[in-house]
Amino acid sequence: MNIILMGLPGAGKGTQASEIVKKFPIPHISTGDMFRKAIKDKTDLGKKAESYMDRGELVPDEVTVGIVKERISEDDAKKGFLLDGFPRTIDQAEALNSIMQELDREIDAVINIEVPEEELMNRLTGRRICEKCGTTYHLVFNPPKVEGVCDLDGGKLYQREDDNPETVANRLEVNVKQSKPIITYYQDKGVLRNIDGSRDIDEVTKDVINILENL
Ligand code: AP5
Repeated sequence: MNIILMGLPGAGKGTQASEIVKKFPIPHISTGDMFRKAIKDKTDLGKKAESYMDRGELVPDEVTVGIVKERISEDDAKKGFLLDGFPRTIDQAEALNSIMQELDREIDAVINIEVPEEELMNRLTGRRICEKCGTTYHLVFNPPKVEGVCDLDGGKLYQREDDNPETVANRLEVNVKQSKPIITYYQDKGVLRNIDGSRDIDEVTKDVINILENL
């Protein structure tokens, strides 16, 4: 099962991905998470990605395509994968198509989580993440039981550096522009599945799981 999760920043890709991998034994491959880990570990990849991410710009395609190709060729991704945040440009979509052809595999579904743009600023500036396990919360829509503390392991909650209003505004502008042609690209291939992501998290999850169970 080779799946792509699409959606503007804050649409709920990471939130839904963590539910999907509880049900289906495939790795969750998030380019954003890979870049953030590389920045934390101060690797060459992290040095290349950091300034783009700080500004809310896309990391160049030649860097991003390389890490995805390597990752989906690993053993645990042979039975399938859940791509989150990739592809984000038409060049990335075409590069992924070539990689899949080389591996003799196909994308089974592209789940596009749709949320009106005006809701996304609130979602992103209110997001908090557990520093231990990475669980995502929201100050209003999905608050932890105790303020600032993860329900699951007591880890401290932090705010992502690119979740400030200025960077969020740029991320939204960049991604709105890039996402339209990708949606058309996958629509033409007959694999696009649009989901209304403005509902409660559980309702969205139900629809996503339903699509995947019926592939
Ligand atoms: P990345 O990490 O991929 O960030 P993003 O696309 O901006 O998406 P987010 O992770 O911010 O949002 P999400 O959709 O996962 O939302 P979440 O579930 O957390 O990318 C970061 C940066 O890396 C990019 O800007 C770029 O620089 C670089 N990058 C990454 N991939 C790249 C690529 N392919 N090419 C080039 N550069 C790349 O939810 C958000 C909040 O809303 C949470 O608080 C959550 O609790 C809440 N929420 C979720 N669902 C709901 C709901 N249904 N109702 C109410 N609240 C909800």
